[in-house]
Amino acid sequence: MAKSTTQFVCRSCGSIQARWMGKCPDCGVWDALEEHRTATGGASKDTQRGSAQPIGNDASSTPQAMQISLVTADSSPGGGLRLGTGIGELDRVLGGSPDPEAEKSEHPQSFRGFRGFVPGSAVLIGGDPGVGKSTLMLQAADRLARAGSRVLYVSSEESAHQLRLRAQRLGADAPGQDGLYVLADTNLARIIEQTRRVDPAVVVIDSIQMIYKGDLPAAPGTVTQLRACCLELVYLAKSTGCVVVMVGHVTKEGRLAGPRLLEHMVDTVLYFEGDRYHSHRIVRAIKNRFGTTLEVGLFEMGDSGLREVADGSGLLAKEHRAMAGSVVCPVLQGSRCLLVEVQALTATGFLGAAKRKTSGVDPSRLAMLIAVLEKRAGLRLADQDVFVSSVGGMRVVEPAADLALALAITGAHYNKKLEQGVCAIGEIGLGGEIRHVQQPAQRLAEAARLGFTRVLCPPTNVKAPAGCQLLPVRDLDLAVQALG
Ligand code: TYD
Ligand code: MG
Repeated sequence: MAKSTTQFVCRSCGSIQARWMGKCPDCGVWDALEEHRTATGGASKDTQRGSAQPIGNDASSTPQAMQISLVTADSSPGGGLRLGTGIGELDRVLGGSPDPEAEKSEHPQSFRGFRGFVPGSAVLIGGDPGVGKSTLMLQAADRLARAGSRVLYVSSEESAHQLRLRAQRLGADAPGQDGLYVLADTNLARIIEQTRRVDPAVVVIDSIQMIYKGDLPAAPGTVTQLRACCLELVYLAKSTGCVVVMVGHVTKEGRLAGPRLLEHMVDTVLYFEGDRYHSHRIVRAIKNRFGTTLEVGLFEMGDSGLREVADGSGLLAKEHRAMAGSVVCPVLQGSRCLLVEVQALTATGFLGAAKRKTSGVDPSRLAMLIAVLEKRAGLRLADQDVFVSSVGGMRVVEPAADLALALAITGAHYNKKLEQGVCAIGEIGLGGEIRHVQQPAQRLAEAARLGFTRVLCPPTNVKAPAGCQLLPVRDLDLAVQALG
């Protein structure tokens, strides 16, 4: 006889409580606990299938322990090769190492095996509604199908007709495009059945929040449904070797719905960011079992979908003009260097209640920089509100951007600016000293390539690139003198 126990699961952080509370005691979010019934004991086989079956094995065969040396990469689905989407910026974020031959090729989409999806993996892609998740996934599906892989695009939000219209806009419905299958359905069992019938290399579920499992009493999008559907889909990926991509919307708190729950279950979590009012979009990995989370992918939204911005290093600083409170810094993002403009503004506030607001910059780093500026450079910011942001929504977490941030704040405070063509690199220590950064040569080369003629940096023995002069500064006091 099946017994059921009731738990309350937080929609925001995934913690489990024994009774309902107005506020989650773990993450502090109000009204986030949701009732979740779990069957124990004689639960039907079907409800437990996702978690009860050993992943990667048929239910009929018992998994056997074996020596790791006997496990070959070739025995994994896809022969251990990655499935490149042909969208370079997306493949970069998905991980893997680039193939030098493919980079030279005229038809890079025909190259598989180095970057891209790992067969049998489950990927979650999140972002605000309207940022372009469906567009990106349909484009990727189109490219994959053109390169000879079968792809199933399951749309739970749009009808097949609407999907066709979108495909027309993206040019993804060309004649002879017979590897791209679409299905407009929300029922999990039917989706899995169709996936097994079509046997695709990649199945896209757009979106996971609308999918429901028929035998659960909960509504689609609830913790119970999300957890059950995600588990079954992850199982589908591991058992068949197809890649399952789940698209998820972000809740109003700015997190993926049921974030912890889903993040733990999948292999890769990508986050699609961008400003609705600007055309550029950034894809970053928050979690990646098969690659680094440092890489970002850059795109531009246009009339016919998303366009890759392969040479995006100047994208976020292209509108930069010399002005007080604005400084450009070359920031490393994975294997490449991007020039990012950081801006600061100071305004009269109240002593003891001065605001410190950041966007794209770590607030605790800002607090540290303000303290160093007060102590070592003589700024008085205790009664000043300080606002700092990185232009274009790029998250700047590298300490190498310290000097640029400090100069932006100082410039904003004294209404002074760096001259046109000057950028800054350097980590700031608590003593106000400017410290070395990683890979200075790559940063200097990128700054010089994009037209910066002088670079404020810590004393270094790296040779200045042609057309670029180094302005070595030992401490903050000296650096501040560059403002005029
Ligand atoms: P969409 O992919 O539907 O977003 P999501 O799935 O993340 O909700 O993108 C919708 C937005 O993109 C919408 O504002 C229109 C815009 N868009 C373009 O600008 N160009 C295009 O070619 C397409 C397909 C969409
Ligand atoms: Mg969508």
